[in-house]
Amino acid sequence: MISLGIEGTAEKTGVGIVDSDGNILAMEGCQLFPEEGGIHPRIAAEHHGEWIPKLIPKAVENAGISYDDIDLISFSQGPGLGPALRIVATSARSLALSLKKPIIGVNHCIGHVEVGKLDTGAVNPVSLYVSGGNSQVIAYESGRYRIFGETLDIAIGNCLDQFGRETGLGHPGGPVIEKLAKKGNYVDLPYVVKGMDFSFSGLLSAALRKYQKGVSIEDVCFSLQETAFAMLVEVTERALSHTQKDEVMLCGGVSANSRLREMLKTMSEEHGAKFYMPEMKLCGDNGVMIAWLGLLMCNEFGPMDLSETGIIQRFRTDEVDIPWIDNTKS
Ligand code: ATP
Ligand code: FE2
Repeated sequence: MISLGIEGTAEKTGVGIVDSDGNILAMEGCQLFPEEGGIHPRIAAEHHGEWIPKLIPKAVENAGISYDDIDLISFSQGPGLGPALRIVATSARSLALSLKKPIIGVNHCIGHVEVGKLDTGAVNPVSLYVSGGNSQVIAYESGRYRIFGETLDIAIGNCLDQFGRETGLGHPGGPVIEKLAKKGNYVDLPYVVKGMDFSFSGLLSAALRKYQKGVSIEDVCFSLQETAFAMLVEVTERALSHTQKDEVMLCGGVSANSRLREMLKTMSEEHGAKFYMPEMKLCGDNGVMIAWLGLLMCNEFGPMDLSETGIIQRFRTDEVDIPWIDNTKS
């Protein structure tokens, strides 16, 4: 069975094609880089509207298949920016109708976890999913992916990006902050973990205040990273201890950060858990993860009726039944 997946929850348009053995036949993407400021939902939607029709034929051609060979159209149903999701869902419906193929909408966050498992061979990990729009500690328990901890306000990537914009480092902030942090020393910033959740908005304001008061950009970048990442690693560690699992996986665009990887790997090894991270191109948003999760879902539940393909802007990771994981190993 061959699935074509369309991703477009935020600023990246992605189209991927996979088969039921997990072979990636094609992976096409195009990222929106805003001229200034953050991502405007309408501009993201226009970007998807422009690129989906270009990336689909490219993916089909690169996969060396014909449209007839496609058995399933998968798309990211949520969570994400409303206008962006609407373009993705509409494109997926049009494609499914015109090709007379079944369709399925899937949860974007679960897509990150499942493609990570496919790529790394991890079986049942505690996952830290960190990106521009999401920050969650996810692990399978009792039939679903449970959110063990999450951000109470903005995502870590968004925190880094906002810091980058306000201080003139440009967008996205994450990679530049990582570079500058290498030359910095620690200054005190607020560490906010409440229960199993973390918060980044107070940390962002405090970091900006330090910078405005004349602390060097290198020192603020270093301290921002150390503080934020320690919060993420602490919650992942607690989820690992609670679930007694023996695998940890990092995914999402912020996985590009080598300091975060190092901290999470060290923590995992201290607990005797194996650390995994998918190939970087599969860490950020992509169409392959949507195509693959579509196949897993369709195997269990069959395709969707068109009436079920509406977008779910606040689609929670723990709303989806996951019957394909062996309960005895959870
Ligand atoms: P999602 O829809 O899952 O929220 P996204 O649209 O944010 O995803 P991703 O590619 O997953 O897209 O992640 C982009 C984020 O990753 C940005 O916030 C960016 O600053 C951050 N990032 C990229 N490289 C680094 C890095 N080296 N260090 C820290 N953050 C990074
Ligand atoms: Fe994502």
